[in-house]
Amino acid sequence: MSINPRDYSYYKETFKGQTMPFAFVDLDLFDENVKQLALRAGDKQIRVASKSVRVSQLLKRVFDADPIYQGLMTFTAPEAVWLSQNGFDDLLMGYPIWHEQYINAVCEELKKGKTIVLMLDSVEHAEHIEEIGKKNDCIIPVCLDVDMSSDYPGIHFGVWRSSIFGKKDALKVAERIKECRHVKLDGIMGYEAQIAGLGDAVPGKAMMNGIIKILKKNSVKEIAKRREEIVLGIKEMGFNLRFVNGGGTGSMETTRQEEQVTEITVGSGFFTPTLFDDYSNFKHLPAAGYAIEVVRKPKPGTYTCCGGGYIASGEVGPAKQPKVYLPKGAKLTNQEGAGEVQTPVEYPGNLELGDPVFMRHSKAGELCERFNTVLLVSDGKIVDEIPTYRGEGKCFL
Ligand SMILES: Cc1ncc(COP(=O)(O)O)c(C=O)c1O
Repeated sequence: MSINPRDYSYYKETFKGQTMPFAFVDLDLFDENVKQLALRAGDKQIRVASKSVRVSQLLKRVFDADPIYQGLMTFTAPEAVWLSQNGFDDLLMGYPIWHEQYINAVCEELKKGKTIVLMLDSVEHAEHIEEIGKKNDCIIPVCLDVDMSSDYPGIHFGVWRSSIFGKKDALKVAERIKECRHVKLDGIMGYEAQIAGLGDAVPGKAMMNGIIKILKKNSVKEIAKRREEIVLGIKEMGFNLRFVNGGGTGSMETTRQEEQVTEITVGSGFFTPTLFDDYSNFKHLPAAGYAIEVVRKPKPGTYTCCGGGYIASGEVGPAKQPKVYLPKGAKLTNQEGAGEVQTPVEYPGNLELGDPVFMRHSKAGELCERFNTVLLVSDGKIVDEIPTYRGEGKCFL
């Protein structure tokens, strides 16, 4: 079975007769990504970021593929509870939650013997969780989120998440946790977004790529030192950490070199959306996409399709638009981009009314918020149609 490259006629033939729009996952490419990501992790475990998949059957497929995949990083409490009730375990909440009702629901799962770890980065978080843990008569495992950004003159290279910037801040929160009877420190996480989520080989941006590479190189050294100091400091306090989590799809080569790190979080690499095409350290395969139908031909070389405008979250810019994937050479127009109901596509070749145009989203999991199901393809055939979170009636964020 050949897995590369895919061309227009391959998918057109595979999906012949299928109504559009539809989303699909090419299982041959997905499985290859699962394999390659496992190789990139070196001797670390991989925690799967559920937000970048949002299809529970595909999450299961990843765990079944290789024991290197252990545990999920989840994005909301209702999601973590739902996954827990559907057979998943070892769930690390990637982000803090606050509402008492959400923490109560987590306690219910903990009491059944499941592992759901809450994320925190402040004394206030710890005290709040302690209070709710006490009411529930429950010991709640938590993970300390450490800021992994680098500050350079005029540039905050990274994201704004945690209020823990260094060892002193970390130990202060850890001291408070030590006094808690209903909070247990289970792990430490640091997400170096500026390494993991920022491409440094973007075509046509040679100068920017060069600057990003230098910033990344400096930042990697700095954050490794920071993470080590914090982890060792916390261990010296007598905490027995179950895990130290770091990184993301784009940073595996550097995160895996840190001795203290036990696991790397990976999500986007499984589908490999367009924002993960342009890194110098890896190349994965475009495993997910969607098809829209040509319904008009306003002028020669322009084919207008129904729907297609699935713009990704974050800072607004052209990179957040979907890209025309196939046929090769087809592209969105600058003036309209991908539209809510109509998407004109410029293409020098010939397309007929009713033909598909295959698109790729710029982010991974967000595509699944637009479709109830994804069609699974292998070896030129549709082998299954399975629900996304949406299709299971779940809209978490
Ligand atoms: C806390 C955290 N860790 C890790 C990741 C990495 O995930 P991905 O592999 O999808 O880039 C993310 C993604 O945004 C994240 O928010």
